[in-house]
Amino acid sequence: MCGIVGYIGKRDAAPILLDGLKRLEYRGYDSAGIATLSKKKFHIKKDKGKIADIDRKLDFARMPGNVGVGHTRWATHGAPSKINAHPHADCHGKLVVVHNGIIENYAKLKKFLKQKGYRFISNTDTEVIPNLISYFMRRGKNLEKSVRSAVEKLKGSFALAIISADEPDTLIAVRKESPLIVGVGKGEMFLASDIPAVLKHTNRIIVLENGEMAIIKPSGAVIKKTKSGGVVRKRSTKVTWTAEMAEKGGFAHFTLKEIHQQPEVIKNTLRVPRAELEKLAKFLLGAERVYLVACGTSYHAALVGKYALAKLANLSVEAVISSEFQESCRANGKTAVLGISQSGETADTLKALRIAKESGARTACLTNVVESSITRESDVVCYTHAGPEVSVVATKTFVAQVTYLLLLSVYLAERRGMSKSKICKLIARLNEVPDAARAVLARVEPHIRKLAKKYSNSQHIYLIGRGIGYPIVLEAALKLKEITYIHSEGMPAGELKHGTLALIERDTPVIAVVPPGASQVRMVGNIEEVKARGATVIAIADESDDVKEHVDEFIPVPSTEELFSPLTYIIPAQLLAYYMTVERGQDPDRPRSLAKSVTVE
Ligand code: G6P
Repeated sequence: MCGIVGYIGKRDAAPILLDGLKRLEYRGYDSAGIATLSKKKFHIKKDKGKIADIDRKLDFARMPGNVGVGHTRWATHGAPSKINAHPHADCHGKLVVVHNGIIENYAKLKKFLKQKGYRFISNTDTEVIPNLISYFMRRGKNLEKSVRSAVEKLKGSFALAIISADEPDTLIAVRKESPLIVGVGKGEMFLASDIPAVLKHTNRIIVLENGEMAIIKPSGAVIKKTKSGGVVRKRSTKVTWTAEMAEKGGFAHFTLKEIHQQPEVIKNTLRVPRAELEKLAKFLLGAERVYLVACGTSYHAALVGKYALAKLANLSVEAVISSEFQESCRANGKTAVLGISQSGETADTLKALRIAKESGARTACLTNVVESSITRESDVVCYTHAGPEVSVVATKTFVAQVTYLLLLSVYLAERRGMSKSKICKLIARLNEVPDAARAVLARVEPHIRKLAKKYSNSQHIYLIGRGIGYPIVLEAALKLKEITYIHSEGMPAGELKHGTLALIERDTPVIAVVPPGASQVRMVGNIEEVKARGATVIAIADESDDVKEHVDEFIPVPSTEELFSPLTYIIPAQLLAYYMTVERGQDPDRPRSLAKSVTVE
């Protein structure tokens, strides 16, 4: 959700914090602010709106001081406004705090502090934090001890960065569930909610774990258990991501860059070592029941996994939306639960894994972020290697997850006795996918741009698919609604006649995803059904198909194995969502009301 940055060192803090905030904007962007400390005096600038606009107005970079904190907000308590924007100071102006997460008992604490004479100006839950720390400092405790005492009283999940006018050479960070990393520099230190914000300065990071705090000075950080104050010895980890990987690289938006990176990402993911697949295979085969839990795009990848594991490896698994796991699933010692999460920080998925663990189940994860929270909830840890994904909407990490699950399905098929010749054929076809994805990108883009112009004012778009086409249309519909804001609904084509057909009228756009395979004939039947009601049909289909004759617009995709089609068929849909969004004058990288990493339930 919100993004936090911090800096302490010899350089001017504000430009570094501003740059970090811009890189974290995908975490929330309804308001932003920076506080620096110079000569024991705070300088605070904040407002509602996007960082670039606020910066144009307030000129963050000119703020003095070599220590500071910054914040980009995704509102939970209190509407987006200048007053509610972070950083928040205590009412005596001695402390500044930025916060990601939710303080569940803030109302009670606010009441207590008000009785003690503390004054509040915002509607946020955050404002109790600097005041509570101040309350303990005024009773004679130093900053570190006051922070620990205050945190002891806070209920909820949060990450905090704190600076104090009384101890200007210290930056304190606290993690309770919401992620925080410390970047280790030479004579300077960085703090951020996520790795891309510090990559420009260092690739050495320390990941704070749940219940830990960092007391950060320019020369280094001491990590302690927040509760006991006991020192935790930790080495920094070197990450392989580079600063360039988190730049736009000549593309107009991160969304477009990340769509174009997909052939390479698929290729990289196909290199997963057999030993890692074996680990996951053992994990799955040793269980009586298997659940794949995930949210959003990752859930759609899980659905592809469900189809592929059933068809190729004869393994029945359930794909479950994480927030529904608790209500709809039962786990025990014979259950295996695989959590799939790009960020590794999605609260609903972490909770599902925790519940599974408490019920005795074994857990595994597939994530894109090294040492993210999900890795600590999992007995088996596997990574997609898609590189940093900056756009809020997931594109390249979807294909990385899908590639991984397809590769795993083929591996399990081999383990379960599929003939060598069939396995070799499948592997050869999988290896063709990166080139096929490249071909799609090279061929369809101009056509998609024209379609985007034509359909960008649509009110509703319906998407239909069968079999493996079903998770593809769900993901395509999600891309469309996330960034175009057009109502888009993906469904199994067979379900049309049970309700949605009533909504199809003259000129309603219907996107039909028709991968090769036995369901094609039935898909043509469904296309005719909607055409009979006046729909305009856009088909994404195998280039050699006769589907063309039945539709208004035809987007050809190179032939591939039916089950591998999500990797190539999703690309035209992603491009359509992107270009329609641009056509509508909206920002595809930063859709309204959404955040990349959803760390609240
Ligand atoms: C948010 C993002 C989506 C993402 C979902 C799950 O809603 O906006 O793009 O698919 O979270 O995220 P995860 O990091 O768990 O894959």
